[in-house]
Amino acid sequence: MTDRKVLTLKYRPQTFDELLVQEHVKRTLKKAIEHNRFANAYLFAGPRGVGKTTTARILSKCLDCLNTDKPTVTPCNKCSACVEISQSRSMDVLEIDGASNRGIDQVRELRENIKYAPSSLRYKVYIIDEVHMLTEPAFNALLKTLEEPPPHAKFIFATTSANKVLPTIISRCQRFDFRKATPDEIVGRLRWLAKQESIAVSDEALLAIGRRADGSIRDGESILEQLATYRPEQIELPDVEELLGLVPGEVFFSYVDLLLQGDTAGLLRFVNNIFEKGHDLFEFYTGLVEHFRNILLIQAGGPAENLGLLPAEITRLEEQAKQFSRAGLIKALEILLRAEEQAKYTRMPRVVLEYLALELTTLVCPEPQTAPGPAPADPPPVRPTTRSKQPSLDSVWQELRLKTSARKPVLTKSLDLAHPESYEKDTVTVSLTREHQPVLEKLKAEQNLLEELLSEVTGRPTTIQLHLSRKAAGKDPQAERITGILGEVEEER
Ligand SMILES: Nc1ncnc2c1ncn2[C@@H]1O[C@H](COP(=O)(O)OP(=O)(O)OP(=O)(O)O)[C@@H](O)[C@H]1O
Ligand SMILES: [Mg+2]
Ligand SMILES: [Zn+2]
Repeated sequence: MTDRKVLTLKYRPQTFDELLVQEHVKRTLKKAIEHNRFANAYLFAGPRGVGKTTTARILSKCLDCLNTDKPTVTPCNKCSACVEISQSRSMDVLEIDGASNRGIDQVRELRENIKYAPSSLRYKVYIIDEVHMLTEPAFNALLKTLEEPPPHAKFIFATTSANKVLPTIISRCQRFDFRKATPDEIVGRLRWLAKQESIAVSDEALLAIGRRADGSIRDGESILEQLATYRPEQIELPDVEELLGLVPGEVFFSYVDLLLQGDTAGLLRFVNNIFEKGHDLFEFYTGLVEHFRNILLIQAGGPAENLGLLPAEITRLEEQAKQFSRAGLIKALEILLRAEEQAKYTRMPRVVLEYLALELTTLVCPEPQTAPGPAPADPPPVRPTTRSKQPSLDSVWQELRLKTSARKPVLTKSLDLAHPESYEKDTVTVSLTREHQPVLEKLKAEQNLLEELLSEVTGRPTTIQLHLSRKAAGKDPQAERITGILGEVEEER
């Protein structure tokens, strides 16, 4: 095996033919070279790791290759000019890092230097990387040079943040927007690399890397490289998930299955499990949003080839897609995106996740319309439930708490002081210690609301019994802390 440390350097494309993904850039640049119509300055804009620096070097070789007497679209990659440019040590093709040469002095120096003819090549090329990092005076000083560069000089600017480059600079450049690679394009590249380097890696593992690279070919390559060191024999999907801390795709299929079955208790258990397994909350969110987006795209007949999915995954997504309405899916995505925002600021991510699960279930199993016509003796309409056995007191209480926190947050604190005792014959019995008599009164005043929410939770008309416990109030530190908080809330109001 060869040295894997430098996979991205070793396999940097040396010709336009080897450069992938950026077809539009290649086409236009090749035409310009063939017709000898060069701009004075180019701006290569786009996300990281998609070929900007690579293209800047190829273009420089096209301009300066010594094996032809004029610029060529197929530089030889053998002459001293080509070799030096590839290794970024040519005297005439200067790579300047905009981040560490941001000031006016550096630009003044450049302006001095640019006057002199190239030492041995046709053109002097200034490649300024991360050009958006230049200071404003530096930008302005550069502007003068850009207006009237000497005929032997060319500029290539590269940036990951084109929006931070002064418009006056942009308007003097020919701009190319480099695009992200799709997961499949990254997989194609990685599969080829793996073959060159005899790295054994499964298709599922490659796909997971391709998705995670988020459009950056270099990131994909670096992940593959790390994995090859970590698992030299054979790289499998769980290795990728482990290394990158990914939540396994299976988790999202199960989550949505539970949702479609309206199994709220199951979902809450599931959320609990996610925390116990130590999965990262944001990984879970991102994955869930992506899963719903995939369902939506598949339902809309979108391009499934570009999603980086296995045929088996597509089949399962199709099955789930059939069970959602379009409006429901869009709503679900809305809810998910909002929840992500909430999760950023909460110190209780678990509650956000639980609430999310409940909100999504109500969406998938909406309340039935009230039937027209007189039916006075009927109990209030409640959500139908797919449960066959009665849910546990614990899960009913937990759900009630969540529903309450959504409908009337102040009441949640009172609920936390109460002890759920039993759930029998459609009645939930709850007690409060004597010192919490005022809390008991408060809950009693909200009995109607509590019963309405309880009935939603259980899917049946359910009543709540509130009473003082006979037990003397023990010193429960948790309860005391909450009483303290309750006091503060009362004072604020
Ligand atoms: N379009 C591409 N085709 C093939 N390989 C690519 C492409 N883009 C990136 N790579 C791989 O990623 C490596 C880094 O690419 P490059 O330095 O050109 O990215 P960049 O766009 O300049 O990124 P940055 O914005 O971080 O500077 C290359 O050496 C190559 O291995
Ligand atoms: Mg670069
Ligand atoms: Zn050459």
